[in-house]
Amino acid sequence: MKKTVVVLGTQWGDEGKGKIVDLLTENADAVVRYQGGHNAGHTLIINDEKTVLHLIPSGILRPGVKCYIGNGVVIEPSALIKEIKQLEASGVDVQSRLFISKSAPVIMPYHITLDQLREQAKGKDAIGTTGRGIGPAYEDKVARRGIRIGDLIDSKLLKDKLQTVLAYHNFVIEHYHNSEPLSFDEVYQSALQQADFIKGMCSDVTGQLHQQLENGDQLLMEGAQGTLLDIDHGTYPFVTSSNTTSGSAAAGSGLGATHIDYVLGITKAYTTRVGGGPFPTELFDEDGIELAKRGVEFGATTGRARRCGWLDLVALKRAVQVNGVTGLCVTKLDVLDTFKTIKVCTGYGQNDFPGAASEFEQIKPEYQKLTGWLSSTKGITDMSALPIEAKRLIEVIEKYTGVPVHIISTGPDRSENIIIKNPMQ
Ligand code: GDP
Ligand code: IMO
Ligand code: MG
Repeated sequence: MKKTVVVLGTQWGDEGKGKIVDLLTENADAVVRYQGGHNAGHTLIINDEKTVLHLIPSGILRPGVKCYIGNGVVIEPSALIKEIKQLEASGVDVQSRLFISKSAPVIMPYHITLDQLREQAKGKDAIGTTGRGIGPAYEDKVARRGIRIGDLIDSKLLKDKLQTVLAYHNFVIEHYHNSEPLSFDEVYQSALQQADFIKGMCSDVTGQLHQQLENGDQLLMEGAQGTLLDIDHGTYPFVTSSNTTSGSAAAGSGLGATHIDYVLGITKAYTTRVGGGPFPTELFDEDGIELAKRGVEFGATTGRARRCGWLDLVALKRAVQVNGVTGLCVTKLDVLDTFKTIKVCTGYGQNDFPGAASEFEQIKPEYQKLTGWLSSTKGITDMSALPIEAKRLIEVIEKYTGVPVHIISTGPDRSENIIIKNPMQ
């Protein structure tokens, strides 16, 4: 049966979504981004060649696969254009395969200014956003004053909308943040140029996706960020401004909930987080340093060092529940190769799952200790070659969460995976 599969992060992002989406494109006709923006950084490594994608779906390196940016994604046109040009410079055919929803909100220069001014004003309480204007752009969408891609490519509409919305934001920039207002002419002129570049790729993405479904095509829905960064279910207010959970795959693309056949939840074999906010299993000792070093834990978008800690099964179970995860993919198993003892968090010392950052701070993690395997799992593609201790970790994850592990990733390259069950087949 043809399937629509959602791939999403179950932690605080950077679980390896890009790698796994790219892997699964072997059986996909199209890949769809449905939320987030260029705050995402998805790394693909194919035969030692590294590509980092921010807005363009991770299907672009598989010739013939169509790539859609859905209505739920906030689009910064200059970032998008830069990414298109970079891919084209390395010989990838982009413009004939990329489709951009006319209903997607645009990240305008004042959103970026506001994001950065607010973070500065927060000082030590800053969220640690990527500074890309994501939050302010989603706010404008919800406030019903946002500029959409469809407005951007209509110069008259753009002029009218921009005049009103820029006056509003400039007032805040000037009188609340005591900063320099943005020039209408500059913002308008550069928006016109950007619109000119992208207009040939703008379309009714929802209509096209339904056409693909009618044709019996397989769709891969690519999440950004992770469940604990979800605006509702994450560690609020240290979250991003979109729903990162599986419901967004429908809302952010125009599919119906019943069109989704399978949800693949990606989790690292440990945990990382970039930016501020609670992180119950965070390590500040040698083990944390070892995880960061072996996992090369630096942000793919901002280059910031990622905080590292043990796998949190309590949070993972909640992620499995709120996403309706069908199967899990455990990535970066190889990073644990050198650990004599591996810990997993199996309790929070309280019954309720925290509802806000302040409650997360109260958690006293309880751990189960597992024996490490102290041998290389790097590049293993066959379950039978996995050390018994590594199999034990996988079993513990399955038992605690109640869902099967269908893929294990044993290295960053497209080829380094144990595929127990391919969600697309
Ligand atoms: P995403 O945002 O979820 O797509 O993940 P990122 O690309 O931001 O971060 C994941 C990082 O881990 C990237 O550098 C990947 O190349 C790397 N990676 C993915 N899977 C594995 C794995 O199984 N083992 C190792 N060692 N690295 C991996
Ligand atoms: P991918 O798709 C990890 C984090 C930021 C910050 C918070 C809010 O690569 O997994 P924002 O700029 O979205 O307002 O920042 O969310 N964040 C991510 N962390 N991976 C990401 O994306 C992230 N996108 C946003 O660091 O803590
Ligand atoms: Mg990332």
